[in-house]
Amino acid sequence: MYQATSVVELRQYVQHWKDHEQSIAFIPTMGNLHDGHMSLIEKGQSLCDRSICSIFVNPMQFGPNEDWDHYPRSLAADIARLEAIGCDLAYMPTASELYPQGLDRISKVEVTDLTSDYEGAHRPGHFTGVATVVLKLFNIVKPDVSVFGKKDYQQYRVISKMVEDFNLDVQIIGQETTREPSGLATSSRNQYLDETQKEQAALIYRTLRDSAQRIETGTRDYAALEAEAIATLDGAGFRTDYFSVCNAQSLAPASADDRDLVILVTAALGDTRLLDNIEISLW
Ligand code: PAF
Repeated sequence: MYQATSVVELRQYVQHWKDHEQSIAFIPTMGNLHDGHMSLIEKGQSLCDRSICSIFVNPMQFGPNEDWDHYPRSLAADIARLEAIGCDLAYMPTASELYPQGLDRISKVEVTDLTSDYEGAHRPGHFTGVATVVLKLFNIVKPDVSVFGKKDYQQYRVISKMVEDFNLDVQIIGQETTREPSGLATSSRNQYLDETQKEQAALIYRTLRDSAQRIETGTRDYAALEAEAIATLDGAGFRTDYFSVCNAQSLAPASADDRDLVILVTAALGDTRLLDNIEISLW
């Protein structure tokens, strides 16, 4: 596997592959790689000739109360995993190269409509940081395809909208969430849960599945369904931030006529905030 830390180096590899008419899949990550990330890379490999994974803990997407310094970093293990899976290139930019003038003076990307609620409301500025770094990475890597996990469903939609709004020449693929046998979505944050909490955490997906099943069999009183689900989770010891039945495209609260839905949930267990979702098609 090749490794690059500078834009110049990275572009040399990319140019060489483009000269040989090889297509490029790009998987942006913040490292601390787990099976979910591996599934994104495998998806990219199935679609393109070459795969590039970036590892960059992006300071711009962390709020003042979120600990960028303490975000888990495991570079040696990440590189070993990428090598084992046959990734072609690991791109590990430095903050000083991506943000040479610091965070305050750089132009920023605001994706409208999709960013004010849910994670946008709980983490002000988060999606501006995500969209800005992803746009920069797309311009550096110039991939044909980029794969995002649907576990971060709002992020996946925000990036898709940015690509649409700015006519970016990259195809965004949403990859299904990888789950543990219990149904718990694979996440870097699972490492903060002890075994008992891991068992408890599986209730999130059970509640999502139960709610989805009720919608599929005719329930349309989404407000009541949401209230019931929140009561179930909070009754089991979670602190639920939101459990919302949404239109899968606009992420607006779903109306009874909407056919493509997603339920977004975030609930904290102890100190760990867990995100999950389920898509529902009523066609
Ligand atoms: O999902 C993530 O890991 C990050 O938000 C991303 C897309 C790599 C941007 O920093």
